[in-house]
Amino acid sequence: MERTAISASLLSVCLVLAVCRCSLAGSFCPAQCVCETRPWYTPQSVYHQAKTVDCNELHLSTIPRNISADTQVLLLQSNNISVVTSELRNLANLTELDLSQNHFTQIQDVGLGNLTQLVTLYLEENQIKELPDFCLKDLISLEELYINHNQISSIGPNAFSGLGNLLRLHLNSNKLVAIDSQWFESLPNLEILMIGENPILGLQDKNFHPLSKLHSLVLAGMRLREIPAGAFQGLEYLESLSFFDNKLTAVPKDALHSLPNLKFLDLNKNPIVRVQEGDFQDFLHLEELSMNNMEQLVALEKGAFVNLPQMAKLEVYNNPHLSYIDRGAFRDMVGLRTLLAHNNDLTLLPHEVFTSFPNLDEVSLHSNPLRCDCLSNWGPVFGNQSSLKLLESQLTMCASPPHVIGHSLQEVVSTNWNMASNTCLPLISLHTFPPQLNVTAGQPLTLDCWAVADPVPQFYWVTPTGDKVTSETVSPVMNEGSVGTRKHRMQDQGALEILHVEPEDAGLYTCVAWNAEGADTRSVSVYVDKGNWRDGQRRGGLKWGLNTTGALVVLAKIIHAQSVVLEWKVYPSVPASGRELPQPKWLSATIKIDNPQISYTAKVPVDVQEYNLTHLLPSTEYRVCLTMSSTEHQTQHSCINVTTKEASFAVEMVAQPSNVALAAVMGSMFAICIMALLVFYMGRRIKQKSCHHSLKKYMQHATSIPLNELYPPLINLWENETEKEKEGPVDPQNSQIDTSKTYMW
Ligand SMILES: *[C@@H]1O[C@H](CO)[C@@H](O)[C@H](O)[C@H]1NC(C)=O
Ligand SMILES: *[C@@H]1O[C@H](CO)[C@@H](O)[C@H](O)[C@H]1NC(C)=O
Ligand SMILES: *[C@@H]1O[C@H](CO)[C@@H](O)[C@H](O)[C@H]1NC(C)=O
Ligand SMILES: *[C@@H]1O[C@H](CO)[C@@H](O)[C@H](O)[C@H]1NC(C)=O
Ligand SMILES: *[C@@H]1O[C@H](CO)[C@@H](O)[C@H](O)[C@H]1NC(C)=O
Ligand SMILES: *[C@@H]1O[C@H](CO)[C@@H](O)[C@H](O)[C@H]1NC(C)=O
Ligand SMILES: *[C@@H]1O[C@H](CO)[C@@H](O)[C@H](O)[C@H]1NC(C)=O
Ligand SMILES: *[C@@H]1O[C@H](CO)[C@@H](O)[C@H](O)[C@H]1NC(C)=O
Ligand SMILES: *[C@@H]1O[C@H](CO)[C@@H](O)[C@H](O)[C@H]1NC(C)=O
Repeated sequence: MERTAISASLLSVCLVLAVCRCSLAGSFCPAQCVCETRPWYTPQSVYHQAKTVDCNELHLSTIPRNISADTQVLLLQSNNISVVTSELRNLANLTELDLSQNHFTQIQDVGLGNLTQLVTLYLEENQIKELPDFCLKDLISLEELYINHNQISSIGPNAFSGLGNLLRLHLNSNKLVAIDSQWFESLPNLEILMIGENPILGLQDKNFHPLSKLHSLVLAGMRLREIPAGAFQGLEYLESLSFFDNKLTAVPKDALHSLPNLKFLDLNKNPIVRVQEGDFQDFLHLEELSMNNMEQLVALEKGAFVNLPQMAKLEVYNNPHLSYIDRGAFRDMVGLRTLLAHNNDLTLLPHEVFTSFPNLDEVSLHSNPLRCDCLSNWGPVFGNQSSLKLLESQLTMCASPPHVIGHSLQEVVSTNWNMASNTCLPLISLHTFPPQLNVTAGQPLTLDCWAVADPVPQFYWVTPTGDKVTSETVSPVMNEGSVGTRKHRMQDQGALEILHVEPEDAGLYTCVAWNAEGADTRSVSVYVDKGNWRDGQRRGGLKWGLNTTGALVVLAKIIHAQSVVLEWKVYPSVPASGRELPQPKWLSATIKIDNPQISYTAKVPVDVQEYNLTHLLPSTEYRVCLTMSSTEHQTQHSCINVTTKEASFAVEMVAQPSNVALAAVMGSMFAICIMALLVFYMGRRIKQKSCHHSLKKYMQHATSIPLNELYPPLINLWENETEKEKEGPVDPQNSQIDTSKTYMW
């Protein structure tokens, strides 16, 4: 009924029009619309003349009836149309239809049934919520579909069925939460896909797999944090990829390496902090890369850009914290012609950067706080004689030292051509670390110290304990007793690395960067948050053993006079990329317990993480080491010195294991001697005399002697190798004591 009403009203409009206009034009043109022949370009940019009916912005709520059947382009942008009935049905030659900025809520209401010649369809800025299966099936000639800026949250797997000729699809700014590769199976010829600004939860492997002809993919504004390595599999011809405005914290290099033809990459506006070694390596066709407007970007590190033979243009501008470009950041990129690095926080560029680019034509450096105190060698590069074009050279000003502030870089390097100074003091970047840093205990900590200077600076660190750590400071080998000196390591770029922060690592760390001119220092106050520690750990009665290089940690959870509960954990090593490595698969675990009187080794089950060492002597120091081996022939080793409590404490402790008491005891020192060890020691002696007695037998005979056990039970016990040697040769057959049943005690 509504339809007939509309038709009726339209009919009257048309009749009026017929009187006033159509008589003149010869063919009918709806009221207020403009009907004329206009130039029209195919998606391949081929020029045509097209009969065009232009009814844009007329507040129409329906499509005018009686539109001439030979119409090729029908423009109805910015109207109030929410439903089409049969108005388009006889427009068999329609090639372009613009219904953008209308009020459609369902694709079925668009009346697309007969439009077999339609090449371009604009439906953006409507309120379409869903694309059901086969909803576009008649549009067999369609090459461009713009359905961006709608409310689409659901697309059927066969929604695009029939669109075998589609070249361009704009699905951006909808409400999609996932991308289904089945959609694309109907689109074998798609070349351009814009699907950004959808609240996608994440990409999946092979997400775009059927799109073997895709050239250009835009994934802007999707809050993507990471890209699975297989996300772009199958995109053999992809040349252009945009990640503009996402949440990537690292260059998704693994995923990018499945794009053999990648030429243009846009990473603008992502929270990437540093471009690291290997991030851009061996992209043989990459021509242009942009990393602009990155608030977090601080450094382009050594080896960040390697073997990019086609790279012609690199944009890294408007990065307010970009202050460090390593002298080894670029290698094998001799084709670079344009480097845009303006509006950063760069003070000095290493010479090597420019010698890496023999074909550089133009460079922008303006709006950086440039230091001009050691540029006497730079005349040939930046002087007004140089063939290198310094873009906006009048705006490229020196920011220091004071006597050249306000002078242009070009002016200074030109006039200072022969001046003496070509060296300058190191300057540590302000963004290298904040003045204060909170880290969680157990986590790794890397303190970068990015400094530029000429000549190249050297570094050392001063730890809270006053120790000086240099690159020569080799971590002492873990020779059974060097827990104290273990953890600091300096990387070759001046970064200090602590694999696992412990509460006592808190304090002030100072980086010193120096060269012949002098030194710069910068300090960071590290606060260690114990909050995530488990209750037992937080009690404060903890002593830590830690391998310098490993992630294995043994700790004493509860310490009594005669027993100690040990626990181990493996903190996955977190590489600088922030990605956790999988935990190794443990094959074997060995506990070694030492004190001056006794030493023994016990093989323990790998899946047991807590042991109760019992029958220890009070007030005695024991040293316990755990060694674990994994399939990769990798061993992890962790030691701890524990001192049992005084006997008098034990009673108190058992009665009332208060934090204060534990802490007080722990305050003393670490060391060990297990009575268990003594017993095993004796057991071994006895065994040496009467070799065929099992330990169990011995134990049964020695009921008056306190039993010794590692709890959960040991699977195997055997003599410590060195100990064995000290004790003289032992029949190898018997070097392993069968104690497999000791747990029955
Ligand atoms: C418009 O179409 C109606 C049928 O839908 C027809 O009766 C009428 O003559 C047409 N008017 C013009 C001006 O073509
Ligand atoms: C549609 O186009 C074809 C080929 O150009 C032409 O022969 C035919 O007359 C057109 N149809 C209408 C209704 O104008
Ligand atoms: C658009 O059409 C709806 C009915 O379909 C009507 O209620 C509304 O007032 C119209 N808006 C304008 C701006 O014409
Ligand atoms: C348009 O489609 C209808 C069925 O939806 C069909 O009956 C009609 O013949 C078609 N018109 C043209 C001109 O193809
Ligand atoms: C280069 O700059 C210097 C110093 O400003 C000036 O004396 C010289 O004439 C300039 N040369 C050219 C070619 O502009
Ligand atoms: C670090 O933790 C301390 C104590 O919880 C807090 O006062 C401080 O604001 C934190 N600093 C930062 C940078 O988060
Ligand atoms: C742990 O330290 C030992 C030396 O005590 C060393 O041999 C071992 O390789 C280290 N673990 C790892 C995983 O590097
Ligand atoms: C742990 O004990 C060993 C001897 O067993 C000793 O050499 C080493 O210095 C001790 N480590 C600490 C941190 O006290
Ligand atoms: C460890 O063993 C001792 C002695 O047998 C016992 O008193 C203590 O409760 C045990 N601790 C745990 C956590 O089982």
